[in-house]
Amino acid sequence: MCGIFGIVTREERTLGPVLIEAGRRLAYRGYDSVGCAVLCDDGTIDLRKDVGRVEEVAERLGFAEMRGRRGITQLRWATFGAPSRTNAQPHLDSEGRMVGAHNGNVVNNVELRERFIAEGMTVRSTNDGESCVHAVERYRRAGDDMVTAIRKAANDLHGDYAFVIGEAGDDRLYAIKMGSGLVAGIGDGFTCVSSDLPSILPLTRRVIRLNDGEIAVLDADGVTVVGVETGETVHREPELVEDDMETAEKGGFPHFMLKEIHEQPKVAGDLLHLLGESKHVVPFLEMAGRARHLYLVGCGTSHHACLEGAVYLNRLAGRSATPVLAPQFIAQYGASVGPEDVGIFVSQSGETKDVLNAVEAARARGMGVLALANVLGSTLMNAADHYLPLACGYEISVPATKTFTNQVIAFLFIAHRLGNRDADCLARIPALLEAAIERALPQVEAIARELADREDLYCLGYGLTFGIALEGALKLKEITYAHCEGMLSTEFKHGPLSAVTEGYPVLFVPGPEDVPVMISAINEVTCRGGRAICIAEPDPRIEANADHVVELPAAPPEVNPLLAVVPLQLLAYRLSVLRGHDPDFPRNLSKTLTVD
Ligand code: M6R
Repeated sequence: MCGIFGIVTREERTLGPVLIEAGRRLAYRGYDSVGCAVLCDDGTIDLRKDVGRVEEVAERLGFAEMRGRRGITQLRWATFGAPSRTNAQPHLDSEGRMVGAHNGNVVNNVELRERFIAEGMTVRSTNDGESCVHAVERYRRAGDDMVTAIRKAANDLHGDYAFVIGEAGDDRLYAIKMGSGLVAGIGDGFTCVSSDLPSILPLTRRVIRLNDGEIAVLDADGVTVVGVETGETVHREPELVEDDMETAEKGGFPHFMLKEIHEQPKVAGDLLHLLGESKHVVPFLEMAGRARHLYLVGCGTSHHACLEGAVYLNRLAGRSATPVLAPQFIAQYGASVGPEDVGIFVSQSGETKDVLNAVEAARARGMGVLALANVLGSTLMNAADHYLPLACGYEISVPATKTFTNQVIAFLFIAHRLGNRDADCLARIPALLEAAIERALPQVEAIARELADREDLYCLGYGLTFGIALEGALKLKEITYAHCEGMLSTEFKHGPLSAVTEGYPVLFVPGPEDVPVMISAINEVTCRGGRAICIAEPDPRIEANADHVVELPAAPPEVNPLLAVVPLQLLAYRLSVLRGHDPDFPRNLSKTLTVD
């Protein structure tokens, strides 16, 4: 998803390196183009942008040498308009006197473009970020001051977005938050603003988190916040962010994904420690415990954690809970839920629009809103009645790994507590994860080499490993670009079995309690010439039936799924690398999906 950053300094200086660094820190969201603009004291605007990676475009276009007093960086993930130099952001107004960039979606972009063109403005791209600039230009042309023009523009721009804009001959930048994240930072002789806190923290820890419907006016000495509706100044005291920001470096690993897989034992321990002490736990559990019915709502990997959560809640707490993909929540349950029900909304980023839409729908029906989220201060956390943080630190790689593990652990913890069960087995999880990684590394290598050229495979689970099979398949498709379908093992015979030919690979994830039912599925594949690769605890029954077994450490049945996902993550990673892809930043994908 797009990311924006803007900075205002007291004197003209070389801003390029600051803008490049901010861009690098926004890169985890996923993007296809990057641009920088600086506004100089002589009234000129230097704008450079193109499709490509931050480092590569910066080198090619010489971002590092860019000098000015105000600067804007934007990383674009295409929604309106194909990835191209013209559609890359920032954008100029008609006369080249204003420059701005946005994050989010302006849903009436097409209508606005037509209107701007009809009014004689110079519209260069099909990107909605440009519409933000022209929307302000329109009112500036009519004589409004910048803040008034932005306030009026906000009425014309429909959707969820945030943008930053500056004008020649002014010494300020202006940023507005209308549904997308925006944080302002105050430093010594400069101020800055960004869609993401991590791109600000290396510069300053004094921040103001903007609310929707607020405009930040940045000059070198401070930030003034103005309400969009009232036009009045809103007093906002800066807060000091003290959290230790983990440096987003790979720590000796070739990719963030591998580093993050290896971090799983540690973050699991951190989460368990936090849950043992956190003041958030009791109110969270009380609300969940009172619910008539629980809905577990998420997308992608977070949805797979919900699938695991539903089994845990049923098995350990005797609670029925319905896992549902966030965009289906209204269609499937909108007319039947009410104030007695509670949703547990699950999201790494806490910014996924599909999830936030479901939260809004739940709220409108009076439901209780609980959240499991990783990014502190995210929109989901703020919107929830109560939340549990996932305590994973920054997850940079687009494929989610450590956050999935901690989502599943959080559900395991919740289920134990709601079921009044002894949760001693949880303390073993970090060491078991460590052992699972160690064991899987050499075993996965051989399978990765065997599967490297395969374009099609299945991954089958059952019961507690159903969500794991879906998650493994998602990881494989996401970063290898091969087709891999996750499925309940018993469903395979209801259709997909017809795909099996000599050597056709099928991954099986048999949990220790489901070996007999899995053996049937394995044999349905092998007797037709297919190749059965199992990820399981050592078990003579599996060894006798499968072609290949990746062995997991023995663990309590509820912990087994957490270990089974590890070889699947590693297999996806190795396959991605063997196939020449970058697992951290798969094509077409974004870490945070803030659009419908
Ligand atoms: O931030 P969220 O957990 O809400 O993101 C949901 C999905 O977009 C995300 O899990 C996605 O499926 C992952 N990239 C998969 O690895």
